[in-house]
Amino acid sequence: MADKKMWGGRFAQGTAASMEAFSESVSFDRLLYAEDIRGSQAHARMLARQGFLTDDEARAICDGLDKVKSEIESGAFVWKTEMEDVHMNVESRLTEIIGPLGGKLHTARSRNDQVALDFRLHVAARLAAWQEYLASVVTVFVDRAEEHKNTMLPGCTHFQPAQPVTLGQHLLAYCQMFKRDHERVTDALKRVRVMPLGAAALAGTTHPVDPRAVADDLGLPATFANSMDAVSDRDFVLEAVFAGSLVMAHLSRMCEELIIWANPNFGYVKLPDQYATGSSIMPQKKNPDACEIMRGKTGRVVGSLMGLLVLIKGLPMTYNRDMQEDKEPFFDADRTVTASLGIMADMLRLMEFVPEKMAATVKRGFLNATELADYLAAKGVPFREAHHITGAAVAYAEGKGVGLEDLDLDELKRFSGEIGEDVYAVLDYSAAIRRRITPGGTGPESVAAQIKALRGWLGSL
Ligand code: ARG
Repeated sequence: MADKKMWGGRFAQGTAASMEAFSESVSFDRLLYAEDIRGSQAHARMLARQGFLTDDEARAICDGLDKVKSEIESGAFVWKTEMEDVHMNVESRLTEIIGPLGGKLHTARSRNDQVALDFRLHVAARLAAWQEYLASVVTVFVDRAEEHKNTMLPGCTHFQPAQPVTLGQHLLAYCQMFKRDHERVTDALKRVRVMPLGAAALAGTTHPVDPRAVADDLGLPATFANSMDAVSDRDFVLEAVFAGSLVMAHLSRMCEELIIWANPNFGYVKLPDQYATGSSIMPQKKNPDACEIMRGKTGRVVGSLMGLLVLIKGLPMTYNRDMQEDKEPFFDADRTVTASLGIMADMLRLMEFVPEKMAATVKRGFLNATELADYLAAKGVPFREAHHITGAAVAYAEGKGVGLEDLDLDELKRFSGEIGEDVYAVLDYSAAIRRRITPGGTGPESVAAQIKALRGWLGSL
């Protein structure tokens, strides 16, 4: 029993069945098989260049690994829990296929630097995929923003109606969040795409390895600077899951708004049937389940981040087996982030907005009050006083159950002699939007400029 293990040489007793089940990682790290094989092939080619393997040996190893890969992909491969992890499963099958030569592959390498490489390659590939998902969400949001660049929406602070904005401007705010997410991933990738092979177990190796050449072979821009850091650094996973947590937080904010907007008391959107569900008892219901689930799954990804932070916080140098627990949180976050981004893009593409409902709320909420105060300030009334005068006019109009724009000039003049006929142009809601032409504002020139800049950015990716 003991001698079945690759590391079993010094063991007299076999592993307890409970320990085998407890310690195996192959049930989840088999997801890394392609990266494991790619990394091993690059390692074998390096060993040949360094004169440690003959070219024929390296070729036999690489071909054998290709065979293992096709067995895995065809489903013929038999994963063995007693082989612990993906690395030993692949290597032992390689040795079955090509014989003792397979045992030379692990020269100058440890599973400690091997797993770091595999996982880095995997995280790098998935982060690149996240960026594509983020870009398609931004594309959809920009398209919908353009379509609704003149659609009036009550802009809120404190979730209270504040000033009129456009739905376009609102959607473009989310584009900025997702663009920053994309940039955050680009930045994280610099630290993910570092080649750790050659650190070996922890101290480097006596064999003349060439990490730079392996990095070039794998298309990684950087190599490790310190062997101990190389095998114990999991910052790259944490940064990735943080970036994913923030993506989810941004998605969750949008979900929250869509849930509110879909409530008939708001009625700003009609959810696409494809992303809503009905109630088994209340026939009238159309529930925003996709948004709710996405909002809920945010907790899952943030939980993974917390788990990872706690995982690494007390670890002494260097590799510790605890680190095996780094993979499932990432895999889970990856599934959640990509599914959520995909659904958000599809859902927003199909979302039916209801501009009349948005406009009606703007008119009910005195969203032109700031306009009146600014109007008075422009006529020389100190802004604090203008604010007070406007507040009094709002209270009066509210008592009458009308908007400021519905008061006649005599009524308005009672609050300030500075108010003239020209006030009505200012009280016009769409004018409030049109006049906000400063950079980044909700005015049409600014919105057009934002759309242009975002399209330029998307085109540059
Ligand atoms: N399955 C292990 C992990 O995920 C691979 C590295 C094991 N290294 C070791 N020295 N036992 O971390």
